[in-house]
Amino acid sequence: MLLSGKVAIVTGGATLFGQAVVQTLVDEGASVLVADINAEGGRDCVAALGDSGLFLEADIGSDDAVARVVSETLGRWGRIDVLVTLACSYNDAGADSTREQWLATLNVNLVSMAMLGGAVRPHMAATGGGSIVNLSSISSKVAQTGRWIYPVSKAAIVQLTRNMAMDYASDRIRVNSVSPGWTWSAIMDLLSKGDRTKTDSVAAPFHLTGRAGDPQEVAHVIAFLASDRASIVTGADWAADGGYSAMGPEQVVPAIPLLEA
Ligand SMILES: NC(=O)c1ccc[n+]([C@@H]2O[C@H](COP(=O)([O-])OP(=O)(O)OC[C@H]3O[C@@H](n4cnc5c(N)ncnc54)[C@H](O)[C@@H]3O)[C@@H](O)[C@H]2O)c1
Repeated sequence: MLLSGKVAIVTGGATLFGQAVVQTLVDEGASVLVADINAEGGRDCVAALGDSGLFLEADIGSDDAVARVVSETLGRWGRIDVLVTLACSYNDAGADSTREQWLATLNVNLVSMAMLGGAVRPHMAATGGGSIVNLSSISSKVAQTGRWIYPVSKAAIVQLTRNMAMDYASDRIRVNSVSPGWTWSAIMDLLSKGDRTKTDSVAAPFHLTGRAGDPQEVAHVIAFLASDRASIVTGADWAADGGYSAMGPEQVVPAIPLLEA
């Protein structure tokens, strides 16, 4: 197992995607504290995990909550080896976004990562190091209609990851980001009314794999980065996107022949 004996914190474990990440880390041997504002989903997430899971209702946009996340983890397991920052807000009105929306979404998506990183750092350093995995997105690199704050937050996360990786390296803490493509998740389940086949067919033209990813597929990348197997990897953004970011505007349609047609 990749994470035998490790203790992890996962923010945002209450929905489909986060639950898959938490389950994968536990399957790989970790004990996991799940921090989320969604109490019902959070309790569901850890219900079957026994002693390996603990849920804490916490708004990671607040410093008090960040401190509680750390102290509860230490109180239960006495150490922190891994931090996965997955919680996010999709609150974004594009060009019409208000200042309040900007600040609220950046606080949850971006600032919380810096605060959580700072809060776990001394505890990881005290036990010889650790691994932080920040969730970014394909949205960090391209413009998407009607979205401003969320993609900006995801782009900033890639840069924050580099900065954290540089300044935490002396404490043997590795910091990486993972950028998923379309992944079967609560929002896709909701919008497609549970229709995975339809979701895959909508995703097909812009993913080389011709489908949306499974949350477990992204979770395996996160588990690898969290583990000692990735000991040489830090400051990197890992695409877990089915080839979305490898594809250009021509998609997989041969464009040159169109000149001859
Ligand atoms: N769904 C996708 O296709 C996709 C694609 C690329 C990247 N991602 C990234 O993956 C992660 C999960 O995405 P998702 O679609 O499952 O999102 P989601 O909205 O289903 O889950 C996010 C979780 O964060 C929690 N949360 C929100 N605000 C919080 C706060 N202040 N404090 C604590 N918890 C809070 C929510 O309650 C929820 O459980 C995000 O970081 C997202 O950017 C998702």
